Amino acid sequence: MEKHTLHIDYLVFETKDALPEADRTLLEQAFVAKGGSHAPYSKFNVGAALLLENGEIIRGSNQENASYPLGFCAERTAFSAAVALFPEEKIRALAITASTILSKVDSPVAPCGICRQVILEAEFKHHQNIKVILSGETGKVFVFNTVKDLLPLFFDAEFL
Ligand code: THU
Repeated sequence: MEKHTLHIDYLVFETKDALPEADRTLLEQAFVAKGGSHAPYSKFNVGAALLLENGEIIRGSNQENASYPLGFCAERTAFSAAVALFPEEKIRALAITASTILSKVDSPVAPCGICRQVILEAEFKHHQNIKVILSGETGKVFVFNTVKDLLPLFFDAEFL
């Protein structure tokens, strides 16, 4: 038996204002997207923005309904819009933010497991990494180079 350790590098910015301009612009679009959130059940409003290879930014927000498990996360809403509008386009980066009237979200929010798996597949499909920018309403911002860093023991169809 051996003990192995996973090592994941990511950047931590003190606030979103410290981000490089392109990343800050994308995150600001996630804040805009959050405005379209429909979350009367959880009261947790999430916004996501995807930057495509062609420069387009696609926004999405979480959309809940009375049947809780059927709600759409912000990330997958954005992803669905992106593949519907630009099916062949590579995704370069994803930014996520969230807020709630219940408390202050002052640390970065991370995508749920389902969204990680869905966005990771976009990396496999185009054989390229997707940068992931995670933010709360305020506070530090985390930047990961690839979705694989959020789902390190992944399953890839290339194994088949
Ligand atoms: N949610 C997202 O939209 N993205 C995430 O990364 C985490 C969770 C949504 C799902 C649900 O509408 C609400 O946030 C509370 O979980």
